[in-house]
Amino acid sequence: MKYFPLNIELNKKLILLVGGGEVAERKLDLLVKAKAQVIIMSPTFTDYLQTFSKRAELTFVDSEYKTSILDEYKFSFVIAATNNEDLNKKIAKDANEKNILVNVVDRPEICDFIFPSILERGPVTVSVSTGGASPVLARMLRTKLETSIPGGYGKLAKIVSDNRVVVRKKFKNFKSNRIFWEEILNSKFVDLVLSGQEGAAEKFLEKEIENFDENKKSEGEVYLVGAGPGDPDLLTFRALRLMQQADIVLYDRLVHPDIIELVRRDAQKIYVGKKRDQHTVRQDEINQLLVKYAKEGNRVLRLKGGDPFIFGRGGEEIETLLDQNVTFQVVPGITSASGCSTYSGIPLTHRDYAQSCIFVTGHLKDGKLDLNWEKLIQPNQTIVFYMGLVSIKIICNKLIEYGLDKNTYCALVQQGTTQNQKVFATTISLMPDMVEKEKPEPPTIFIIGNVVKLREKLNWFSAD
Ligand SMILES: C[S@@+](CC[C@H](N)C(=O)[O-])C[C@H]1O[C@@H](n2cnc3c(N)ncnc32)[C@H](O)[C@@H]1O
Repeated sequence: MKYFPLNIELNKKLILLVGGGEVAERKLDLLVKAKAQVIIMSPTFTDYLQTFSKRAELTFVDSEYKTSILDEYKFSFVIAATNNEDLNKKIAKDANEKNILVNVVDRPEICDFIFPSILERGPVTVSVSTGGASPVLARMLRTKLETSIPGGYGKLAKIVSDNRVVVRKKFKNFKSNRIFWEEILNSKFVDLVLSGQEGAAEKFLEKEIENFDENKKSEGEVYLVGAGPGDPDLLTFRALRLMQQADIVLYDRLVHPDIIELVRRDAQKIYVGKKRDQHTVRQDEINQLLVKYAKEGNRVLRLKGGDPFIFGRGGEEIETLLDQNVTFQVVPGITSASGCSTYSGIPLTHRDYAQSCIFVTGHLKDGKLDLNWEKLIQPNQTIVFYMGLVSIKIICNKLIEYGLDKNTYCALVQQGTTQNQKVFATTISLMPDMVEKEKPEPPTIFIIGNVVKLREKLNWFSAD
C-alpha cells in the first residue's frame, strides 16, 4: 500500500492552494465542501474562482507564488495546481523543506498525498484510489459503486449516527454494541429507510433498542465455507457475506492469502492448516475448537480450500457440530478439479471423449495406494486424482498395469486458477519423468483421459 487512506477533518484548517485556473477550480470546490480555510494564490483567477471571492473562509492573494508565504502562515498542507510544471516542482520542494505536506496536481511521484475519487452519500464517503496510477480508472470504479450504493444510504447513515450515542450508553459491552448494529443493518430497518419510510424505520429502531437484551447469551454458529481453488473471484456471494460477518476464522493451508484478505479485518484468524504428514492441528482438535468457539457465542467461520465436502473432511466437522447441538450452515465452493480443469482448458466431460468423470484420492496410506483400479479404467472416463503428486509414479504404473493405454493423455495442474498456475501435459507413461524433471509445486491435481487433448485448442487462461 503506497498511500495510506485517512479521513481528515478540514473544518478551520488552513490550506494553501497555488493556481488560478481550471485545475485549481476542482480543488477549491472540494476544499470549500470540507469547510477548510483557504489562501488561494495566483496572478489571475478564472471567472468561476472569482465567484468565491466574497466567502469569508477564502483569501484571494493576487500575486505570483512566493516561498515566503510558507513562513507567514501555518498551513496544514499545500496544493500546487498551476499550469507551470517548474513552478509546481518548486512549490513541492519548498513545502518539503518546511515539512509541510504537499500535493502536486497530476504528479503523484512528487506528492506526499493524493486525492481519491469520492462517492458521497450523506455522511457516508467512499473513496477510491489507484495510488496515482490512473485517476480515470478510479473514476470508473467510483461510477460502478454509484449504482450499487443507492442515495438512501445517506439517510440510513444519518439515522444510525443520530442513535449511536443512545445505543452506546445503553449497552455497556463493546461487543453488544457491534452485534446490535449488525443485526439492525441486516434487518427490515434498512429496507424501510431505502424505500423512503423513515418514520417507520425510526420507530422500528426505537423498539429494537428498547428490547435488545445484551445479557442474552447470543447463540454461536459455525459457517463451513468452501473458498474455492485459489482465485478470489471464484468465491460465492454467500461465502463472501459470511466471511465479512464472522468473529473467528479457522482456515486451512489451501486457502489462498488473497482470500484471507477478504475476511472481516478484526476477526480473529487461526491457522489450522495441515501439510502432508505434518498435522499442525489434528482433525478432532479442529472439530472441538469449532464447538468451543460457537458455544462461547461466536460466529465461527471454518474456511476450507475448494469444496468442504470433496476430500475436505467437512462431513466429519458437521457431524461433531450436530452431536453437540451447534447450529451451522455449509456453503459449497468450487472444487479444485473443476477450477483447475476449467483454467487449463480441459473440459472434464466432452461428447467425443468422456461421458463420465471420477474423482479419486491419491493420498498414500502406509506408503500404499489401495484403489479399485479396474473401476477407474473405464472407456471414455476422465480420472481426476486429488493429492496425487507424491504418488504419481504409483498411479501411472498401476493404471498401465491394469490395462490403460500407456499413450493416454494426462495433465498435472500446479496451483490451478492462481497466478502460479502451470500445466504439465504428456502421456501417462512419460508423466513420472516429467515430474522428476520439472518438480511441480503443490498443490497439484492430476487429470487423466483423452479430454486432455482438447487443451491445445481450448487453453484460454495464462498465468503471469
Ligand atoms: C485435502 S484436498 C482438498 C480438496 C478440496 N476440498 C477441493 O474441493 O478442492 C487437497 C488437494 O486438493 C487439490 N488442490 C486444491 N487446490 C488446488 C489448486 N489450486 N491447484 C491444484 N490442486 C489443488 C490438491 O490435489 C490438493 O492436494
